[in-house]
Amino acid sequence: MGRTYSVSRAVVTGAARGIGAAIAGRLASDGFSVAVLDIDGDGATERASQLAVETGARVVGIACDVSDRADVARTFDEAAEALGGIDTVITNAGIARDAFLHKTTDEQWDQVIGVQLTGTFACLRAAAPHLRGDGPGRVVCISSISAAMGNMGQANYTAAKGGIVSLAKTAAREFARAGTTVNVIRPGFVDTDMTRGMPEDAREGLIKSIPLGRAGVPDDIGGVVAFLCSDDAAYMTGAVLDVNGGAYM
Ligand code: NAI
Repeated sequence: MGRTYSVSRAVVTGAARGIGAAIAGRLASDGFSVAVLDIDGDGATERASQLAVETGARVVGIACDVSDRADVARTFDEAAEALGGIDTVITNAGIARDAFLHKTTDEQWDQVIGVQLTGTFACLRAAAPHLRGDGPGRVVCISSISAAMGNMGQANYTAAKGGIVSLAKTAAREFARAGTTVNVIRPGFVDTDMTRGMPEDAREGLIKSIPLGRAGVPDDIGGVVAFLCSDDAAYMTGAVLDVNGGAYM
């Protein structure tokens, strides 16, 4: 028997490009109706149109800044309207503003916590009423390998990513009553715009240290998200899955 799903209407944040775009693509290919949310409204619309053509699924692009709680509340209602409800939420939007801890400015701290941690909270809160419908729900939160290991120059980012793990575990307990599972993926190094800015030698050194011998690609994460949304993962909640080529085990 192939993979089956009991959910079908997904919101994916930060889905105009990178890992989020791959997640939205995988879910649309697997038959989901998808709302592509991104602060880059034009990018969201473009990705949505492309996916609608490629997959034949219903895909809508909506501009949304996840660090703006009122905007998130409004956008989730708009997405629910467009999709006929929401039963699946993937919180993926993220930024990095790297600096050594002692040089981290208030602005760098607030920006990263605002998008990553407050943004995830805002999405879970806005999603909660929609997830209380009949039938199961699925939430997948994108954290990072750095939540487990720490990372030089990323005090703000690692604190936010660690916070996402704890937040998701509380959501898993609270949402379980409504039949919704909440799980976390901690990706390792994935080749996207976020990591392309690294100096070439640092990048090569990092890739050499990965046991599977390559950088991750966005579809590596999309596949695990699809698994967590599927019926195969019906009895998993509050779990943290490391998807990193063996970089942390
Ligand atoms: P990316 O920079 O390629 O894409 C991030 C997307 O999020 C962009 O489309 C961007 O416009 C959007 N975004 C940024 N701020 C936003 C906001 N306030 N509201 C809505 N959308 C916003 O990054 P990538 O690599 O695809 O990262 C996706 C997620 O995966 C992030 O949460 C990141 O922290 C996480 N991650 C990435 C890893 C990597 O190696 N690339 C490793 C571990 C985690």
